[in-house]
Amino acid sequence: MFDSSAAVGAHDEQPARVQSVELAEEDLALDRSLRPRLLDDYLGQTKVKESLRVLIDAARLRGDVVDHILFSGPPGLGKTTLATVVANEMNAKVKTTSGPAIERTGDLAAMLTNLEEGDVLFIDEIHRLNRAIEEVLYPALEDFALDIVVGKGPAARSIRLDLPRFTLIGATTRTGLLTGPLRDRFGATFRLDYYSPDELADIIERSAGILDVSIERDGALETARRSRGTPRLANRLLKRVRDWAQVNGRPTIDEDTAAQALAFFEVDSLGLDNVDNRILELLCVQFAGKPVGLSTLASALSEDPDSLEDVYEPYLMQQGLLVRTPKGRQATPRAYDHLGIPMNL
Ligand SMILES: Nc1ncnc2c1ncn2[C@@H]1O[C@H](COP(=O)(O)OP(=O)(O)OP(=O)(O)O)[C@@H](O)[C@H]1O
Ligand SMILES: [Mg+2]
Repeated sequence: MFDSSAAVGAHDEQPARVQSVELAEEDLALDRSLRPRLLDDYLGQTKVKESLRVLIDAARLRGDVVDHILFSGPPGLGKTTLATVVANEMNAKVKTTSGPAIERTGDLAAMLTNLEEGDVLFIDEIHRLNRAIEEVLYPALEDFALDIVVGKGPAARSIRLDLPRFTLIGATTRTGLLTGPLRDRFGATFRLDYYSPDELADIIERSAGILDVSIERDGALETARRSRGTPRLANRLLKRVRDWAQVNGRPTIDEDTAAQALAFFEVDSLGLDNVDNRILELLCVQFAGKPVGLSTLASALSEDPDSLEDVYEPYLMQQGLLVRTPKGRQATPRAYDHLGIPMNL
């Protein structure tokens, strides 16, 4: 999804774009200013937080680095945020890179040898690392060692360099695409789930505080319900609602203000974005409600099957709009209801 065409056109402010799960450029600054620094500022994902707290406290007590951690889950749920939170909690520096950015084994070797004791190495989209590079990572993760080959032909020999103890944090939207050997080398794996409206309302209230925006709980909840279970969208919608409130002379965002603002920006009542809605339209209209295979649906959408499965379907299923049947994907009566079309076409 990261290189899908939906990610371009970052600056257009069409209402529909308000809800894209892709990260537009204007959101980068917002993301940074609102990003929690420590575990206590990180709201929701209670179970994940509790486990991380134990990992962090135990590592501190031992005076050691935290075990390698993998975060997975759909975009915008807080994987990158958690990686920086772990580093901050450990007073560690973070070095950031991503799977597709590491092109040669030498690139990774250079990063590893530049690490200092206790650093966090964050590899985003880690499922996109190529195999040869992954293999360099195995001894680094297991033994904090780097095996390099010197010389050529019969004279070639392998020497082992010691690396400082570090923590690898990987993030992925697609656990399914991670190879077994790599997955096994993480000491802990956490899957992030969609946030409840209540949790998102907490996040919105926190963000409103940082942005110096006055908001009532009901206003925050109204915005939260349309945020697709995703903090990134919640923050983005808060910004839009704030704009509308400002222009319309509302000093405080109450429920009515939020509802009017969201209606103005044509934000979908369930928080669905364009791709979500296109999926439902295809299933209900073009495929006439019949079950559709994953790859057929993906090509009709011009999306790849993996992002369909890992990024879009989970939310649609959670909302009871789509079901996976043995024969394929199928829209539910609620999907027809949402699109406002009759079920038997
Ligand atoms: N639990 C949380 N509490 C408060 N704010 C959060 C939380 N999780 C995420 N956010 C906010 O949402 C924004 C998006 O989160 P983040 O960039 O970490 O998502 P991500 O999972 O890395 O997404 P992607 O897959 O697109 O890289 C953050 O900048 C932060 O402001
Ligand atoms: Mg991220």
